[in-house]
Amino acid sequence: MAMRKNNNSEAETEKSKLSGDRLRRSMKVFSYVLPYKWPFIWGMLSLALGSMLFLLIMKLPGEVFNIISGESAYGISVTQAFLIVLAMLGLQGALSYFRVQLFAIVSEKSMANLRRDLYQKLVTLSIPYLEEKRVGELTSRITSDVTQVQGVVSITLAEFIRQIIILIGGIGMIVFTMPKLALIMLGTFPIVVIGAMFFGRYIRKLMRSRQDQLAATNVVVEETMQSIQTVKAYTNEAFEVGRYNATLKDVVKLSLKAASMRGLFAAFIIFVMFGALFFIIWQAALMVQKGEMLRGDLLDFVVFTGIIGAAIASLGSFYTEIVSAVGATERILDILDEPSEIELDHQTKSSVQRFQGDIVYQGVHFSYPSRKDVPVLKGISFTIPAGKKIALVGSSGAGKSTIMQLLLQFYRLDEGQILVDGKSIYDYDLNHFRQNIGLVPQEVMLFGGTIRENILYGRPGAAEDDIIDAARKANAWDFIQSFPDGLETIVGERGVKLSGGQRQRIAIARAILKDPAILLLDEATSSLDAESEKQVQEALNKLMEGRTSIIIAHRLATIRDVDQIYVLDNGQIIEQGTHENLSSIEDGIYNSLAKLQFEVAP
Ligand SMILES: Nc1ncnc2c1ncn2[C@@H]1O[C@H](COP(=O)(O)OP(=O)(O)OP(=O)(O)O)[C@@H](O)[C@H]1O
Ligand SMILES: [Mg+2]
Repeated sequence: MAMRKNNNSEAETEKSKLSGDRLRRSMKVFSYVLPYKWPFIWGMLSLALGSMLFLLIMKLPGEVFNIISGESAYGISVTQAFLIVLAMLGLQGALSYFRVQLFAIVSEKSMANLRRDLYQKLVTLSIPYLEEKRVGELTSRITSDVTQVQGVVSITLAEFIRQIIILIGGIGMIVFTMPKLALIMLGTFPIVVIGAMFFGRYIRKLMRSRQDQLAATNVVVEETMQSIQTVKAYTNEAFEVGRYNATLKDVVKLSLKAASMRGLFAAFIIFVMFGALFFIIWQAALMVQKGEMLRGDLLDFVVFTGIIGAAIASLGSFYTEIVSAVGATERILDILDEPSEIELDHQTKSSVQRFQGDIVYQGVHFSYPSRKDVPVLKGISFTIPAGKKIALVGSSGAGKSTIMQLLLQFYRLDEGQILVDGKSIYDYDLNHFRQNIGLVPQEVMLFGGTIRENILYGRPGAAEDDIIDAARKANAWDFIQSFPDGLETIVGERGVKLSGGQRQRIAIARAILKDPAILLLDEATSSLDAESEKQVQEALNKLMEGRTSIIIAHRLATIRDVDQIYVLDNGQIIEQGTHENLSSIEDGIYNSLAKLQFEVAP
């Protein structure tokens, strides 16, 4: 459970203003809507039409008033007026129905595409980039950030436009029919608008930090759930609850601060806005008394001022939502704009050219990008002719796994080079390159599905016989068969329903199925009992035939017959030779290690 701090949040709260550049950049995400422009345009049209109908319908009360007082200019009866409105309501209902459908099509489909692209980007990003981020942070890009953008595409943008139409239409109506009143109104509204903008900006900032804080609480939940056994074994439940509670308290504190601002905002709106409204109505009432205005028009005026006021009020909150969605698009684009290490379109598995398997490490220096100042490998050089086996031994943290990870191109070298078949590993197409390598990692994490799916991962689409054959060779078939569901046994999340040794044998079966030219075994027999170890060892020996293999082993007994053994210490090779060579060096490191092990284990 790392305690790294999310230090982006402060920088991000700074950016709560909208600039042209930011909007333009965000448009890249909104371009996902483009393929669905027709439903979008039709949706917008029905929205516009619906909004105009709404304005017309809202003229009913005033008109009825005028009809009753015999002042109507249209010469229709009250009943006729109601029938007309009834028809308009029907039309508006139909328009709303289509609009909701159309916007759902646009937003669901376009955002599914965005999610797919984001996921595709995530899985093709380089390991150093992914290591810098926390899992929760990356998943929230796909979930909550996209949801925010989706909210804008499906509802907010439409509502925003509807309110603008209503605002313009409403003001137009008043300006056209009651110019004098309109002037009074336009004199008062700017005060409200400026006040609202001031508040809005501040509240937005608070809500943004609250959002970040909430994300931080999720990180705690995710981390504890991922390591729940450790939490329980150390009886740190109370500690974790405390940690979670502390982050929750921060959320509440920020939320309450934001709430008190929102409360002030509401008070401001009620007092200033409604104050302005009643001021205008008072003026209008005076005009009716003086006979400058029809009573029905006064009613119209009250209704429309209310509508305009409501439109302005809601515009503020939509603006807030749009700004935070722009923030979400930026976080999404930060990921989308990262370079992938692999092009998925090139991922054709059929045409892969098989390597011979000559491997050369030449003066390899390396430090992990996250800890640049700690050199992990300090000039590693060795050669493995095609088809030969070598072993890496040495103390924990010496850099053995790192050597394998560099061959897989998970990280870039700082210095030196690695050649495969005489060519730098970086000159190969990464896809083809990795398809030639089989890895049985130190810690096997399986995928949550069935055993079959996990073995098939080595070569999707492999025949049933090949799967069973691979499982047999990995000495996994016996235990698979002993499960009632056999190959269909669900392994649980990350494989938790299998033992460590069983997981490892599944991983070996997977590598066998892949049939790679180069094999990397990181402690592949470490969690097996003596009997299984012997069997897996035999399986591995068969598997290694004709392949270049690098084996990492703590138990030296398992690597007796490799062609060359390299003893690693602190990022350097300090001894090398065959088992016989190294054992004959009386005061050699390997020898002392071997003696130690054979004394303890038989
Ligand atoms: N992703 C990483 N980021 C930063 N440092 C790392 C990373 N992985 C490993 N290291 C560091 O690099 C050094 C070598 O690690 P490596 O995993 O290669 O050791 P190892 O020889 O395989 O050890 P073990 O026998 O325990 O598996 C260690 O000091 C480790 O802390
Ligand atoms: Mg290791």
